[in-house]
Amino acid sequence: MIEIKKLSKHYKMGEVTVKALDGVSLQVEQGETVVLLGPSGSGKTTLLNLVGALDRPTEGSIKFYETEITRYNRRQQFKFRRNKIGFIFQTFNLFPMLSALENVQYVANLGRMKNSRQKSIEALKAVGLEERIRHFPHQLSGGEQQRVAIARALVKEAPIILADEPTGELDFRTGKQILELLLRQQNNGTTVLLVTHNREIARITDRVIELHSGRIAEDGQPKNGKVSIEDLRW
Ligand SMILES: Nc1ncnc2c1ncn2[C@@H]1O[C@H](COP(=O)(O)OP(=O)(O)O)[C@@H](O)[C@H]1O
Ligand SMILES: [Mg+2]
Repeated sequence: MIEIKKLSKHYKMGEVTVKALDGVSLQVEQGETVVLLGPSGSGKTTLLNLVGALDRPTEGSIKFYETEITRYNRRQQFKFRRNKIGFIFQTFNLFPMLSALENVQYVANLGRMKNSRQKSIEALKAVGLEERIRHFPHQLSGGEQQRVAIARALVKEAPIILADEPTGELDFRTGKQILELLLRQQNNGTTVLLVTHNREIARITDRVIELHSGRIAEDGQPKNGKVSIEDLRW
């Protein structure tokens, strides 16, 4: 479904060039749940932004099936994001002047969903926020904002979910519920790329890709074995 070849993203900062990504190649099948693991600054968000067509690489390519999305113009990038990508941003990126429900429904409407209001309420219920749908972002805790961001990414039922540290702001119990919800997307054939810097959280799936300084250090089974959500501790 996703074929990444020799992907690089370099940022020129005055005299120095930061190699956020430096020759990354990998493939992801439809319905796979893949964890991207790596310390802060290893290039996880950069990679997610490129797969989500929010940015263009310095070198290399990303194919979605037969189409090279890295050659898309802005209009094509927008359509690709709208139709194919559910993005959970590390910093949430909620609209401050829209309520929780409006934030979710805005995205559902962009995707031209039928029954967008009902679907949005259901998505907020799924993340345990049915009693917060009229709240504005500033009236919500960090964890609640994160869950609105998750509902917003799931409501479109997009074929690819890109989740950037989706449990970063959540307490343990809520975090587990969210991870379970993300794992469950597999049942609809959804592909999930889940970013974390936490080696324990990485154990929820069969495939962990480890990034170090913009390069792939490992790609395979979690080192300490897979764990079920019930047994997960972090
Ligand atoms: N827009 C940018 N301009 C300059 N440097 C950037 C930019 N985005 C990311 N970087 C740098 O690229 C590296 C990788 O960043 P990032 O992908 O955000 O890492 P991670 O998500 O793994 O913490 C970091 O050193 C970061 O400072
Ligand atoms: Mg990041």
